[in-house]
Amino acid sequence: MNLILLGMPGAGKGTQAEIIQREQGIANVSTGAMMREVSRAESELGRKVQEYLSSGRLVPDNIIIEMLVERISKNDCENGFLLDGFPRNLDQAKALEEAEVEINLILFLKISEKEIIERMSGRRVHLPSGRSYHVVYNPPKVEGKDDLTGEILIQREDDHPDVIKKRLQVYYEETEPLLSFYRQKDISFYEIDASKTLEEVTEDIRKVISH
Ligand code: AP5
Repeated sequence: MNLILLGMPGAGKGTQAEIIQREQGIANVSTGAMMREVSRAESELGRKVQEYLSSGRLVPDNIIIEMLVERISKNDCENGFLLDGFPRNLDQAKALEEAEVEINLILFLKISEKEIIERMSGRRVHLPSGRSYHVVYNPPKVEGKDDLTGEILIQREDDHPDVIKKRLQVYYEETEPLLSFYRQKDISFYEIDASKTLEEVTEDIRKVISH
């Protein structure tokens, strides 16, 4: 099974991706996590990517597409993979088709802008693993610490209000058109109500996957 998770920034894609990966035994490929890792490298590319992340803009296609296509050709993707954060615009979706990557299922996590802002402002992340928590809705066992490693949790720099605003604008302009693009394709497309509790969203996704 090769699936794509679509949804606004903060809709819960990363949270659900981790659960799907565990339950389905497929690779979890997050381009956001890949970019955050690249941005930490002391290199020209790292610095360039960092500028895009901190401003809430998309990293240019020429950087991201090649990296993604190479990533999904790795062994751990043989049994299937989940794409979280890719494609992000029509050119990236077309690049997937050109690379003859087969997609069987698209899950669109639907939520309102108001709820997004609440979720992103309370999010805390463990940067090395990408694990994501929420101070109210999904708190870690020990405040401010990752459940598995005990390492410190941080607030992502793109979760600050002015950058959130920019990310939402980019979503409407570049990513939202993917919904009608994929609805016209011969691929199973499901809309999931992402405003429900974390557990309810997981259950709705399970039902779709086992359908
Ligand atoms: P990326 O990391 O992909 O960010 P995003 O799409 O903006 O999504 P988020 O990670 O913000 O949110 P999410 O939907 O995963 O929500 P989460 O599960 O954490 O991208 C970051 C940047 O990288 C981009 O801006 C861009 O610059 C670059 N980039 C990435 N991919 C790219 C591409 N293809 N092309 C170009 N550039 C690219 O949940 C959010 C919060 O809500 C958490 O605190 C969580 O605990 C909580 N929560 C989750 N579910 C629930 C629930 N049901 N109820 C209550 N709280 C919940």
